[in-house]
Amino acid sequence: MSPVPARERSAQARHYLMCRPEYFDVQYVINPWMDPAKPVDTDLAVLQWESLVGLYRSLGHRVDLLDPVPGLPDMVFAANGATVVDGRVLGARFAHAERVAEAPAHRDWYRAHGYEEVLEPRYVNEGEGDFAVTDSWILAGRGFRCSSEGHQEAQEFFGRPVVGLELVDPRFYHLDTALCVLDGDDVMYYPQAFSPGSREVLARLFPDALLVDADDARLLGLNAVSDGLNVVLPEAAQNLARRLAERGFHPIGVDLSELLKGGGSVKCCTQELRP
Ligand code: ARG
Repeated sequence: MSPVPARERSAQARHYLMCRPEYFDVQYVINPWMDPAKPVDTDLAVLQWESLVGLYRSLGHRVDLLDPVPGLPDMVFAANGATVVDGRVLGARFAHAERVAEAPAHRDWYRAHGYEEVLEPRYVNEGEGDFAVTDSWILAGRGFRCSSEGHQEAQEFFGRPVVGLELVDPRFYHLDTALCVLDGDDVMYYPQAFSPGSREVLARLFPDALLVDADDARLLGLNAVSDGLNVVLPEAAQNLARRLAERGFHPIGVDLSELLKGGGSVKCCTQELRP
């Protein structure tokens, strides 16, 4: 494969919604990363999360906060609570009973903050866990959480083409653990997380994509947030950081080791509000 040359990259100010991990814990198992026998240091989780918030603000991004709710230990994974495109808010419907009550908290936040189009969905979708927005498409994962019906519902609501992708490895149960939008129609992904047909679809749509290897994927390196220049990712994924730098991005590693015990990292904590 010929190397893709580094391009001039530029950052664009973003607007994020996040939720402090005040009640974060691992009390149940809904993905293979979770083990309730491993102790969780909630205070450390809060400190790690606060430094992520501070980093976003120092990069010029706006971060709004959703109040955490006692009894909802996964609420820190704010990306799952809705998908916002063109100012329209597609609410979530969680696959597992343990997280169902997070969805109305997100919808209430949007209604209270002036968003007029807020849809309570009929079908399961876990927000940006399974929806990734590029300039041309909305990429949508299915297989573990979101369903095909959820993809259709998103396409109808947003009026943008939704491309369904089949996830096949339970460790990569949400699309945002296996694929990350870097800029425009530029993505990086871990091919082995997808079915053969979906791999072909990705190769057709994104012939220049950065293909991530198993080691970086296992460190949740793909659970990253890009503003077009700065790519915030788990600091352990050093090989991936080097490869991003070769393409002209500015990788910034962060330590979210406590949240990793819940099966999430940078992107899971970060819901993007697209005007
Ligand atoms: N414990 C959470 C779950 O399994 C983690 C969610 C991570 N969020 C994400 N956007 N991948 O639902």
